[in-house]
Amino acid sequence: MAERRVIPLSRPEPPNAEPGIAISGLHLSRSGRALLRGVSLTLGHTGITALLGPNGAGKSLLLRAIAGIIPPDAGEINLAPRLAHPALVFQKPVLLRRSARANLAHALKLAGVPRAARPARISDLLEQCDLTALAASPARSLSGGEQQRLAMARALAAEPALLLLDEPTASLDPKATAAIEAITLRAAGRGVKVILVTHDRAQAERLAGDVVFLHKGRAVEHAPAPRFFSTPASAEAQAYLEGRLIL
Ligand SMILES: Nc1ncnc2c1ncn2[C@@H]1O[C@H](COP(=O)(O)OP(=O)(O)OP(=O)(O)O)[C@@H](O)[C@H]1O
Ligand SMILES: [Mg+2]
Repeated sequence: MAERRVIPLSRPEPPNAEPGIAISGLHLSRSGRALLRGVSLTLGHTGITALLGPNGAGKSLLLRAIAGIIPPDAGEINLAPRLAHPALVFQKPVLLRRSARANLAHALKLAGVPRAARPARISDLLEQCDLTALAASPARSLSGGEQQRLAMARALAAEPALLLLDEPTASLDPKATAAIEAITLRAAGRGVKVILVTHDRAQAERLAGDVVFLHKGRAVEHAPAPRFFSTPASAEAQAYLEGRLIL
């Protein structure tokens, strides 16, 4: 079989700029199965990168590896210093059994924000994520969409420069999805680097500047989003986009 390769993404980075995220030769095995198999990628300091691929491709594992939650067996992940403290949002938010406001207060405390500065920051986060009216509601009584907005607010509490989103809208309706997308776009507009795992092609087309396509633990393709969706270079991505690639 022909050697697979990652198609380099050319983007208008300043000359000699260090990459935002440089991943080389990443391998991860569990229970004798190779789950990430030599992933090498270079991502910029800003912009939204969509991470696509069929179920089981290794998207969530790669995101967790970038977050530093799971150590790889081999290879390196180098984050530029400004991206060194990423925030992660999962498909199903895990919130404290307290009010929405208290969830944010806790996140700010963990982020080391001085107590006196917290109320203003909480108001700002609630406002940003359209949660002001729900501040006193128990987090776990919120709807799925409201809980995910709160998860986004919590992720943004520490003012991360890198936001890792793992299917944040997978179980949300179009309106709730639009709210999460708006929060994501605003963060990206402030210079936050976003990596977004999604199965929603239209969402990736709306949000992403570049696309990484993962298949069976390999980064098969990396391209600007318009080119990826119009003329995917790899047979795997073509099959995936046509709905023919299940695994
Ligand atoms: N701790 C583990 N032990 C063994 N296998 C694992 C472990 N974690 C993940 N896997 C396997 O690794 C593969 C990739 O998992 P991952 O969760 O990254 O997939 P994914 O691309 O996020 O898929 P989905 O779109 O379904 O969320 C899967 O086959 C999964 O079963
Ligand atoms: Mg996943």
